[in-house]
Parts: sequence; C-alpha cells; structure tokens
Amino acid sequence: MADFIFNNPVKLHVGPGKFDQLGNVAQQYGKKALLVVSDSTKPTGQLARAQEALTAAGMTYAVYDEFMQNPLSTLVEAGASLARQENCDLVIGIGGGSAMDMAKGIAFCALNEGSIWDYVFGKKQAQHALPIILVPTTAGTGSEANRTAVFTNPETHDKKGLVNPLIYPVASIVDPELMLTLPKRVIAGPGADVLFHALESYISRNAHPFSEMLSLRAITLLAKNLPRVYADVTDLAAWEQVTFASTLAGMAIDCAGTTLPHALQHPMGGLLDVVHAEGIAAVYPAFMEYTWSAAPEKFAAIAAAMGVDTRDMNTEEAAYSSVKAVTDFLKSVNMLPSLTELGVKEEHFDWIINNVQTTMKVVMENNPRVPDTQTLRDILQRSL
Ligand SMILES: [Fe+2]
Repeated sequence: MADFIFNNPVKLHVGPGKFDQLGNVAQQYGKKALLVVSDSTKPTGQLARAQEALTAAGMTYAVYDEFMQNPLSTLVEAGASLARQENCDLVIGIGGGSAMDMAKGIAFCALNEGSIWDYVFGKKQAQHALPIILVPTTAGTGSEANRTAVFTNPETHDKKGLVNPLIYPVASIVDPELMLTLPKRVIAGPGADVLFHALESYISRNAHPFSEMLSLRAITLLAKNLPRVYADVTDLAAWEQVTFASTLAGMAIDCAGTTLPHALQHPMGGLLDVVHAEGIAAVYPAFMEYTWSAAPEKFAAIAAAMGVDTRDMNTEEAAYSSVKAVTDFLKSVNMLPSLTELGVKEEHFDWIINNVQTTMKVVMENNPRVPDTQTLRDILQRSL
C-alpha cells in the first residue's frame, strides 16, 4: 500500500435538523460573528434562523452578503474590512460554494495584511485566520470539509484556489433539511460537481488508499441518490445521502485535488463568468474519452460505482463504459450543456489554453494523461 498522510481537522455536525444547533456550536469559537450569506438564505428563512440562534446563544453578529457566483477577491477584501471594523472574532458562511469560499477568504484576509493573491501564489506566508464555521445550503462543492477557497481576480481574470490549512473550518453543519426547497438547476449543477470532485480525485495522480475510499463511496451514493432528489426535492432520505456524498467528495479533493476538467473550467469562469459545474460538464465527455485509457482499472471501478453491470466485461470494456454512464447521468439531470451554449467561442481558446498551462498547470498535471496544447484545443473544440 502507498504511503500517505491523512489529516482532516473539521468537526462535522451531520444530520437532519442540525442547523438548530448553530448557536451552541458558534459560541464555542467566538462572541461576535460575521455572517457571510448567499441571497437564497433570506427567502428560505435560513438567515433569520441563524440570527435567532446566535442571539439565543448570547452572541452578536454583522451580515455580509455582497458577492456573486464566482467570488471576486476585491469583495473578499471588502468583507475582511467589515470583519475588522465590526470586531468580529468568528466568520460563519451559510450558502452554496461561493458563500462558503467567501467566508474562508474573509476569515483569512481579516488577519493578514495585503492582497490575498500574495498568499494564493505563495509570495507571503500567513500565521493566523479567524475561526470559520460553514453551513452548506447546496450539496456541491464540499468546501465545508476542506482547506480550499476559489476566487477570481477581476483585473487579470485569473481564477485560482487559496489552499491553506488556516482555512479549514473549525466546524461545519451539514443539514440535509436545508436542501428541501432547492430549485432543479441548483440541485443538478452542484450535484454534478460532487460527481466531478469524486471522479477527479479518484483518478488523480495524488490519490491514496484513504482518498480513493472517500471518492468511490461518494460516486456510489451520488449516482443512486441525485436522480431521486432531482425527481422529488422533498426526499429527505435521498438528500441525506447526497449531502454526505458532497462532504466525502470535499474531503477527497482535500487529499488528491481535481484534474483536467477543473483546470479547464477555471479560465472560463474567470474570463466569461461561466457557472462552475456547467463549464466542467461541457468538457466532461471529451475529457473522459481522452483520459480513460491511462487508468483503465480506475475507470472500470467508476463504471461499477455508477451502477453499470460490468461483470461480463473485460477491464477496458468496463472502463470505456464509464464514459457513457457519466454522459447519460449528466443528461438525465439536464446538465450537459455545450460550450457554445455557455458563451465560450473558438476565439477564446488561446486565452483559455494559455491560462490552463500557467495558472492551472498543477491541476492539469494531476490528470493521469497530460494534454499538450493541440490536445487541449481538440478537447475544447469537441465540446463546442
Ligand atoms: Fe468543483
């Protein structure tokens, strides 16, 4: 068995109704919280519930809700100023991946001078961040279980992750009841991203036996249960499995990272504000066609985890069947857009490819097969 280190310090509070414990959890880490929340937390009553829970626990708070689907570093820095001005000693992120990543960035920037990009690119080292509590209200990024937060630089359009142990949440509350009113598009997109995280971390060159276990379990749970919640958003038993899969996949990428599709999506998100999961989904069939033969045993296991009966197939047949299984799965939840539909055109290819090869080089090289410039262009072309 390969050598590996596994360390995940996030205290996870998992289960239906756990959101009610936010006040009790939060008071263990601070007195005044900055609540960093998605817009959706207002009509759903989640923000009001959080405010009541904190008040009941004897805490005070300020609210920050200024951001977009691809969090901008400038808005992170504005949130950090607010945290300092309000003397917050804790940051609580409630929402989808953007809100959680924004909360991580704010907690980090509140205690560290200068631009966040100095830390993203390793020019400066940080020693402190405010404690972070995260509450996902979509099942997607798994940010609640890891030390990554992704931001866009509005000047350069670079979209890149801060990966730093200081932004592990001290605690996260994973409550499947918070998902019971999600619109279909916010089920399918983040849900597909769970599959992408699980699959890419599984095939990553940095995968190890523990992360592979997390990844494969996440694929199995997601493949079975995402169609159920897509058909019936009130299916709590299925949501329990989908939210668990999301957290497992978030832990798996903390170990092993993602691969080529995430590397390709970041430039599209940074340049054209393409929605994360949609940009990834668009390149998935071409990415899988290109990659499967470099890791046939792994792709065969993915096919089996997706529910394909591979017993009468040899390894190559089983591996190749994963391409159709994943493509059909994405179609079934209406998550297989073309790049053209997302606004990506051939004229953007040079910028995207250059950005992948510079800003996202490490992620691209996690892929079991590493594409050259022409191959990247072919993959994009086939995904138009
Ligand atoms: Fe993702």
